[in-house]
Amino acid sequence: MLVKVHECRVCHGTQEAQRGPILDGMEYWYLYEQLQKFHSGVRGQNPKNRSEYLMGVGTRKIENQVEIAYLANWFAKQEPKPAIRTIQGDKNLGQKMYEQRCVQCHGDRAEGNRKLKSPALDKLEGWYFIEQMRKFRSGERGYHPKDEWGRVMATASKDLADWDLKNLIAYVVNEFGLPEAQPMDGSPVPAGSRKPF
Ligand code: HEC
Ligand code: HEC
Repeated sequence: MLVKVHECRVCHGTQEAQRGPILDGMEYWYLYEQLQKFHSGVRGQNPKNRSEYLMGVGTRKIENQVEIAYLANWFAKQEPKPAIRTIQGDKNLGQKMYEQRCVQCHGDRAEGNRKLKSPALDKLEGWYFIEQMRKFRSGERGYHPKDEWGRVMATASKDLADWDLKNLIAYVVNEFGLPEAQPMDGSPVPAGSRKPF
């Protein structure tokens, strides 16, 4: 099984330029459900959503439910890693927006709420956070008829302007997020990731 973990690490470590989010320390239940979505094609089948599609390819190696549970558990048990901070914004405006639009599902300290299937937001790197928000907003994530909770989140992100997102993320990452890491090679975000910020 550890061989599988290493395959995931190719994209989910902190070394690689072309990569996905850091998964270390995310909640077991959230990882488990997202892996189910990738495995069943509810996420990761739209080639236009390049990075998600890449992950769809990454999941083909997962053979069964036992592996999904094992992998979710393995990543959930790791210590969270320092994160790259890339998003600048007005934290005070971000806080107001967070309290109006996010707190009811993601919690006072961005700790998440399992009953509402809302993950913690305190382990997300800025670049990944903003990409996902843009994807929810544009309908590239949370569009599948079977993706009930993804669609809930997509609805919650409608009408947010880009500066709202930056303010929100500056607030959440600075207030609740992980310690700051230095970018490896001067490039703060993975190659191919849709920026600019
Ligand atoms: C080829 C690179 C690649 C491989 C291999 C890969 N992933 Fe991913 N993964 C990604 C990318 C890129 C994303 C972000 C998708 C997006 O932008 O929507 C992602 C997203 C995820 C997510 C969703 C995280 C979230 O916050 O919603 C989980 C969970 C995940 N991967 C788990 C795994 C596991 C477990 C493995 C090993 C079986 C794995 N991945 C292998 C690239 C990869
Ligand atoms: C009505 C409840 C609700 C509200 C309000 C809400 N969310 Fe969510 N959010 C969710 C759910 C449910 C998910 C999980 C979606 C999935 O399963 O793909 C989610 C997922 C996310 C993710 C993806 C995390 C990851 O690891 O990929 C981000 C980022 C996020 N929310 C940020 C926000 C922000 C910022 C706000 C405020 C503008 C917000 N949410 C408002 C319910 C909500």
